[in-house]
Amino acid sequence: MVEMDFLRWRLLPLLTILASFLIFYIKTSSKPSNSECSLVAYDRYWITSKRIVTPEGVISGAVEVKGGSIISVVKGEEWHGKVGRGQVIDYGEAVVMPGLIDVHTHLDEPGRTEWEGFSSGTKAAAAGGITTLIDMPLNSFPSTVSEETLRLKVEAAEGKIHVDVGFWGGLVPENAFNASALEGLLNAGVLGLKSFMCPSGINDFPMTNASHIKEGLYVLAKYKRPLLVHAEVQPDSKSYPEVKDGIDDARSYSTYLKTRPPSWEEAAVRELLTVTKDTRTGGPAEGAHLHIVHLSDARSSLDLIKGAKGSGDSITVETCPHYIAFSAEEIQDGDTRFKCSPPIRDATNKEKLWEALTEGHIDMLSSDHSPTLPELKLLDEGNFLRAWGGISSLQFVLPVTWSYGRKYGITLNQLTSWWSERPAKLAGQELKGAIASGNHADIVVWEPDAEFELDDNHPTYHKHPSISAYMGKRLSGKVLATFVRGNLVYREGKHAPAACGVPILAR
Ligand SMILES: *[C@@H]1O[C@H](CO)[C@@H](O)[C@H](O)[C@H]1NC(C)=O
Ligand SMILES: *[C@@H]1O[C@H](CO)[C@@H](O)[C@H](O)[C@H]1NC(C)=O
Ligand SMILES: [Zn+2]
Repeated sequence: MVEMDFLRWRLLPLLTILASFLIFYIKTSSKPSNSECSLVAYDRYWITSKRIVTPEGVISGAVEVKGGSIISVVKGEEWHGKVGRGQVIDYGEAVVMPGLIDVHTHLDEPGRTEWEGFSSGTKAAAAGGITTLIDMPLNSFPSTVSEETLRLKVEAAEGKIHVDVGFWGGLVPENAFNASALEGLLNAGVLGLKSFMCPSGINDFPMTNASHIKEGLYVLAKYKRPLLVHAEVQPDSKSYPEVKDGIDDARSYSTYLKTRPPSWEEAAVRELLTVTKDTRTGGPAEGAHLHIVHLSDARSSLDLIKGAKGSGDSITVETCPHYIAFSAEEIQDGDTRFKCSPPIRDATNKEKLWEALTEGHIDMLSSDHSPTLPELKLLDEGNFLRAWGGISSLQFVLPVTWSYGRKYGITLNQLTSWWSERPAKLAGQELKGAIASGNHADIVVWEPDAEFELDDNHPTYHKHPSISAYMGKRLSGKVLATFVRGNLVYREGKHAPAACGVPILAR
């Protein structure tokens, strides 16, 4: 066995060293050059337009970009004299706005790449003007619930992301009472935690109760990072709505709607508020923050949230484009593309959501892009009770919000507040979310009046475009260009050749 020993003790270590050199060499030499990361070659340039959305309002002027950051924002024609300092990209009347930050996306990688994946998902994001997205800890496999599983996520994302991507970690019963496990996950860089108050539909992501949530919130207080909660509580079987497979028509949307009434959201919010009172100034969980994801009930649940905000609880809430674009009445029998939870409710509820959004009671929007395989949407059978719940929307959220919001008179600054400023704050991204000197040059350029048909000819980058609830709609608001950290990553139907987005890890 001398040969074996030689192999084991001499050759193997040598080979390992050689291999690591080789990997190092390949990694460094294959690092994309700037010309592959961006569709423009310059490091220093000006973006000019008559409509630049800044925190001080919409201005005509120019944004100076250098080395991936915004180094100045100037009004009017002041930039003319300084043009020697770089190239000019003039967008005329098109809107120049901070890139969108989607705090709620399911990219499903590793483990369920056939559902979406980092590559197709972030290409769709770039084409939609989203410059940062935060990936949810579930629907990939394994779920992101530990330091180790976060490492798998970050590794899977390497070289595949066209926009910046951050990660939420999962708060689950297994880690909720284990502060060292939670701290491990937070130290490894998740931007906050996410948990469910009802079954998530994913086996390795079990639901949490109020005790788990309280524990999680106390750990998060130290890190000043948020807890995001899917707020629906399934009541005990006595009060469970009577829907029986075979008796009620499973193809009818109203059948599905009955199975998840607003009282589920209300019960969850009520329970959460017993914990969030601790987040008030001087309270035992001061520093912690609770964020309710995808609120659908604009009635009692919203009133409770408003009350808690008034009492000083550190709490925010998001809703999604599908809740403010669609109403239950218009969902056709068997059209399971519209199934999501909580469900899309009636038209009056939708009006109230718009009202809450424009009045500032709902803080922000997120896509909750939650794709799957077309087979699992059961589009042929049209069974709302058995189909996968989740709406696919990532690339379309900007034109959707704009198209459906125009009749409510929404402004460009409101769009920016819902899609960039407040999401940046939630995710702790101080250098993102606004066109301001010193920030990352994360910018979307779009034409609000350009209309298009979302038909099969429209270039769509989701892995499964056909399952999106928006297909077949006519929208206004066409994305012309998307810049991420100064790289022009997308321009009218074309992506930069290399995926140079950055994985965002909290420190
Ligand atoms: C808590 O988590 C740590 C780190 O993941 C692990 O080593 C330890 O076994 C866990 N403790 C319990 C009681 O499960
Ligand atoms: C939550 O579940 C844990 C078990 O994981 C249990 O010890 C605890 O009492 C439960 N809390 C509530 C409020 O039901
Ligand atoms: Zn989700």
